[in-house]
Amino acid sequence: MKVLAADIGGTSIKLCISDLKGNIEIFKEYDSESKKGGKYVVEKLIRIMEEFGEFEAIGISTAGQVNSEEGSILYANENIPNYTGTKLKEILEDKFNVPVRVENDVNAAALGEKYFGIGKEYNDFLCLTYGTGIGGAIIVDSKIYKGYRGNAAEFGHILTHPAGKRCGCGGSGCYEMYASTTALVKNASELNKELINGRMIFNRLKQGDSMLEKVLNEWVNEVALGLVSLIHTFNPRAIIVGGGVMEQEQLVSLVSNRVHELIMDSFSDVRILKASLGNKAGVLGAVSLHLP
Ligand code: BGC
Ligand code: NA
Ligand code: ZN
Repeated sequence: MKVLAADIGGTSIKLCISDLKGNIEIFKEYDSESKKGGKYVVEKLIRIMEEFGEFEAIGISTAGQVNSEEGSILYANENIPNYTGTKLKEILEDKFNVPVRVENDVNAAALGEKYFGIGKEYNDFLCLTYGTGIGGAIIVDSKIYKGYRGNAAEFGHILTHPAGKRCGCGGSGCYEMYASTTALVKNASELNKELINGRMIFNRLKQGDSMLEKVLNEWVNEVALGLVSLIHTFNPRAIIVGGGVMEQEQLVSLVSNRVHELIMDSFSDVRILKASLGNKAGVLGAVSLHLP
């Protein structure tokens, strides 16, 4: 079966055509222009999908809390304004006449890793992505733990700084305000306004920049604070981290070292692993939604 899969985030929309074994035929990435709102993003998605030719099913991985039975967005924060309530499955099935399945982006990424990536080796793990926001997934006994309404693992909104910075979810002091790629880029660009993405930050660090290194280490500490609470809560065998700057292997080691400094000894065999599917975890997870 040929599946058209899309991964919708605050920064980009990624699409692929793949079979059910995860063999990707085409992969493309577009700016999501998410600030224009949910309606615009969905219209753009449809325009792009129309260019993809033939497919027999659609899988969607999307930021926001998803009702996966209905294929609708239960709640999305200001990373994609006015996206809450969007009936994605209904809209896309009407338009393309093929079965559509929808899942939260990081739940999908975790499934991608479980079926096609490093997650194959683990039955109990957490997955987090550090991009525009921070998303999470909990895999227990090889299945996604969804919680009572299906919203579980909104790790980006754990309060690591009570009464801290205002977050797009309406709360204050959320983890993603301090530990997302957006937060790192924001802090780095306060030092040097030319540093507008993760790649630029890492190129600059290679040349040696002690102020920037300090910013990076503070960010690594923020990432670790959230992970330590999650490790103490779930006792996972592994944590798979991906998204944005986590593509940098050396960064994953820095995070892992800091986590191991902070966790209780009895948890110290936890593994912090880089997402093996990189920026394709979400689309491949969306493909896996059609596995029998
Ligand atoms: C949203 C999550 C999403 C994550 C990553 C967060 O701000 O609340 O639903 O999974 O960003 O896109
Ligand atoms: Na999730
Ligand atoms: Zn929040």
